[in-house]
Order: sequence, then C-alpha cells, then structure tokens
Amino acid sequence: MERPAWAPRSIDITVPSVSRIYDFYLGGSHNFEVDREAARRAMEFLPGLPKIMQANRAFMRRAVRFAAQQGIDQFLDIGSGIPTFGNVHEVAREARPDARVVYVDHDPVAVAHSQAVLEGAEFADVVAADLLKPREILDSPQVERLIDLNRPVALLLVAILHFVEDADDPCAAVAELTAALAPGSLLVLTHASYEGIPTSAERAGGAVDVYKDIRNPLIMRSRDEIARFFEGYEMVEPGLVPMPRWRPETAPEEEDPYAFSGIAGVGRTA
Ligand SMILES: C[S@@+](CC[C@H](N)C(=O)[O-])C[C@H]1O[C@@H](n2cnc3c(N)ncnc32)[C@H](O)[C@@H]1O
Repeated sequence: MERPAWAPRSIDITVPSVSRIYDFYLGGSHNFEVDREAARRAMEFLPGLPKIMQANRAFMRRAVRFAAQQGIDQFLDIGSGIPTFGNVHEVAREARPDARVVYVDHDPVAVAHSQAVLEGAEFADVVAADLLKPREILDSPQVERLIDLNRPVALLLVAILHFVEDADDPCAAVAELTAALAPGSLLVLTHASYEGIPTSAERAGGAVDVYKDIRNPLIMRSRDEIARFFEGYEMVEPGLVPMPRWRPETAPEEEDPYAFSGIAGVGRTA
C-alpha cells in the first residue's frame, strides 16, 4: 500500500485507527482502506453512524460559540481528532478573534494534520499526548504558551471518553484536569450511550464489537455514568441531553433519529 505524504512514518497503515474511521464517517480524506472497511462493518449494524458524528460536531460548534459568548477565550480540546470542516479554532475565532486553542491527541495522523493546518498560527497549537497523562498536557510548552490557567478555560472532551475503559479510570484523569482549571471554566463533553439509539442494544452491540475487534473498545455508558465526569461542575441548562437538544440555534428540523444517540452536556466550575 502506498503511504501518502500526510501519513507519518511511525504509523502502521494496515491497522485501523478511531480518528481515521471518524474522519471517514465525516466525509474526510485522511483514512485508509482498513479504516473504511471497519467503518462499513460498524455501519452494517448502525447505518446512522455518520449522522451521529455530524450531530456530535454540530453540538461541539454550538458549545464553542456558547463558551465564547460567556467570555471564554481559551480552549483546550483533548481528543481533537483529524482537522475537518468547522474546527474549534475557526469557530472560536469567529466569535472571539483573540481566542487561543490547544489541540491534544495521541494519534500521530491527527497530530501531523493539525500541525499542517496550524502552520505559522500564533494563536493555536497541538500537543501529542494522552488524556490519561494530564500532567503532560498541562505542563506542555504549548499550554504554557497559549493558555493562562488562572483564567477560565473551555475544556473539550468531545467523543473521547468512550474510548477510555473503566480500568484506566477516566474519572481520575478528568478530575486532575478539572483541578487545574480556574473558576468559571467549562467542561464540554459528548459520550456514546445505548440510551436514545433508534435500534436494539443487541444490534448496536454489533457495531461496538467492531471497535473491540480493532482493539479500540468503544465503551457505552449510561446517562448516570456520564454524569460522574461532571463532579465539581454545575450543569449548564439544559443539562445532559441528546446532542441535538443542547441549545439548538435554529428551529428544530426533522432530525434523523440516529442524531439522538449519544449524550452531550456542558458544566461550569464554581
Ligand atoms: C471520535 S474522535 C473525536 C474528534 C473530535 N473531538 C470531535 O468530536 O469531532 C476521538 C479522538 O480521540 C482521540 N483519543 C482517543 N483516546 C485518546 C487518549 N487516551 N488520549 C488522547 N487522545 C485520544 C482519538 O485519537 C481520536 O482522534
């Protein structure tokens, strides 16, 4: 298989990655046949997966605009993925031209492509790091340069925590990040869940099995389990809801039922 110029030498292009599968669902071009094959297998069980991802991105953009309207001008986006249409720095800077953004991902393709997109930008950067090592993120030169932790930050954990198993204690990582944030900071989060999926849990489980097969388990959590990530936060209205129901900006259109799979919420530190 030919290795395109954007694929770092360090990656095995015969092994699927969740960031490239996600890129495929969103119609991007930074994915390989192994990624498309895994995505298509998952879509046999959940044909609406691209709709879920679009609802996730649409929520993320609304939440970034909300944060900017609340006066927040610094964004820490962990599990930021491969840049696509409407990235956090674009949405944030439309609302606040002075906004600064640090992206974080552990996937080399996501990091390399973010570096390419951000080349020469003084207001945004990317860190190659793992959510499970919050200190590496918080102490990175990129965060030190761009983010003042004495002022409110919007921490984005969008469609990442469902890739962290309970054994790796995702709540502890979120709590460590939260402890570093100034009062008035926001946590913007989405998470996969069986709640709201317009098909049986058994059928949706077929898609979950595809992620298990590629050794990137997808952990479906209940609303109550997802609420635990918000320890120390006050929920912003309307609380934890299906993604299209979080502060829609236009009159509700006929949404694809799949868009209501997955849960979104924003919390504020006191
Ligand atoms: C589904 S994508 C979400 C991208 C973006 N946040 C969005 O919602 O559009 C999940 C991203 O999380 C990254 N990721 C998963 N586990 C991670 C971890 N432990 N540390 C850092 N990044 C992680 C993956 O590499 C992938 O790029």
